[in-house]
Amino acid sequence: MAAAPTKRSQWKSRTGFILAAIGSAIGLGNIWRFSYLAYDNGGGAFLIPYLIALLTAGVPLLILEFGIGHERIGSAPLAFAKLKKHWEWLGWWPVIFVMFGIVLYYSVIIAWCVNYMFFAMQLSWGDDPDHFFFKEFLHVSSGPSEVLSIQTPILAALVAVWAICWAIIIRGVSRGIELANRIFMPLLLVLTLFLVIWSLRLEGAALGIHAYLNPDFSKLAQPKVWISAYGQIFFTLSLGFGIMIAYASYLPYKTDITGAAVITALTNSGFSLLAGLGVFSVLGFMSHTQNLPIENVVKQSIGLAFVAYPKAISLMGPAGPLFGTLFFVSLVVAGLSSAISIVEAFTSAVVDKFGTDRKILATVLSVAGFLGGIIFTTQGGLFWLDIVDHFINAYGLVVVGLLECIVVGWFFRLDTIRQHLNKVSRLQLGTWWNWTIKFLLPGVLAVILANQLVDEVTKPYGDYSWASLISIGWNWVGVTFLLSFILAVQPWRSGANLEKGRSDGHPQ
Ligand code: ALA
Repeated sequence: MAAAPTKRSQWKSRTGFILAAIGSAIGLGNIWRFSYLAYDNGGGAFLIPYLIALLTAGVPLLILEFGIGHERIGSAPLAFAKLKKHWEWLGWWPVIFVMFGIVLYYSVIIAWCVNYMFFAMQLSWGDDPDHFFFKEFLHVSSGPSEVLSIQTPILAALVAVWAICWAIIIRGVSRGIELANRIFMPLLLVLTLFLVIWSLRLEGAALGIHAYLNPDFSKLAQPKVWISAYGQIFFTLSLGFGIMIAYASYLPYKTDITGAAVITALTNSGFSLLAGLGVFSVLGFMSHTQNLPIENVVKQSIGLAFVAYPKAISLMGPAGPLFGTLFFVSLVVAGLSSAISIVEAFTSAVVDKFGTDRKILATVLSVAGFLGGIIFTTQGGLFWLDIVDHFINAYGLVVVGLLECIVVGWFFRLDTIRQHLNKVSRLQLGTWWNWTIKFLLPGVLAVILANQLVDEVTKPYGDYSWASLISIGWNWVGVTFLLSFILAVQPWRSGANLEKGRSDGHPQ
């Protein structure tokens, strides 16, 4: 017999919800990932596709995810089961691959930042931050098949990261996630403003700003730049993660959802642009002090935060340790608020389906998340991280986004969602949104996906062996995909009402 449904958690206020959504969106992606992508893809040239991707994919899809969660009142699997029973798996797939993919390595990058917070205090990286990061800190092996030993300082920090996530998630939606974001977000803003103003005043900052704001238009002809921009919009707005669906399901009936989506998307990108200003000022400073052209100051873009920044911090003189510590504290804060949202997406899915006790589940997931992350703390961890990140971003998030548009746009009355959003929101959606979800977005995402696949089969990603790419990357995608079907065919044990959404009489 099905259990009686438990009362759905709710945010204390709309501001609390928006802060939590912004907290999920703003993360390592805005500082670490955005900056290295901008650096790699021609500085300012990247901003044009990035902003186009924000408007054509980011905002419409965020509205869709908020709309599905709010109208169907459910985490991703419940919401999709209510849209059409046989699409339930599409709700499971993202929450599985974020919980057993993204957050496993994401928490390890936060653990690196925790270590670097302390390294910055004493400039432990010495004269050669590159050697320090790859050889002394990560002890990188020769390839993904050579896993070798676990790095204890990373493992220790990983315990702390998961302990914090656990302590927040067991407290629930309003007393845990909302409260944490009410502290984390203002703190992050103050830290970032302080660091950006500081960076802008460094000698040579103007050189960096020039590279950041002066687009190299020739780059726009490269499909890679566009693929990176669309991929980044998915990652940064936590789209295709199942998070935004769950977060919107915790809102009361009358809430300006479309307004909240626009505020979340613009604040998140505004934050990235601001952080980019700081990062490029620091690159300008390095170019000036080392007498190098700006395109040569970073050797390996993935190491921007852990190699280029430490170099700059050392060049700053006595103020360096303070700047460096605050920089890594801000990365930790940004990362934690996103990590908890990922765990919450899976937690709410399991609670909705099986009625599991949240505290027990959060504990099991935190332990599982920690154990699953161990592989990324090994000497081969950097390669594993790179491969899993590539596959999940390229084939997880984008495919989920594409299928969301098709399922809701073509197999469900999309206008039900639009009319619902217009009923509860102040900011009204025109029919342009239906066109975007039904045709424009699937078209753009299909082209991106096709391009990626052609690249994928013609040249092994990152020059890894085909065996590594298949056994780590494709397997990760395949196993999570299979698991989503296994979970979708299990019986509903929570007593959730699978029949109704808010538009057809679900009790508000
Ligand atoms: N949206 C999160 C980030 O950008 C995952 O880091």
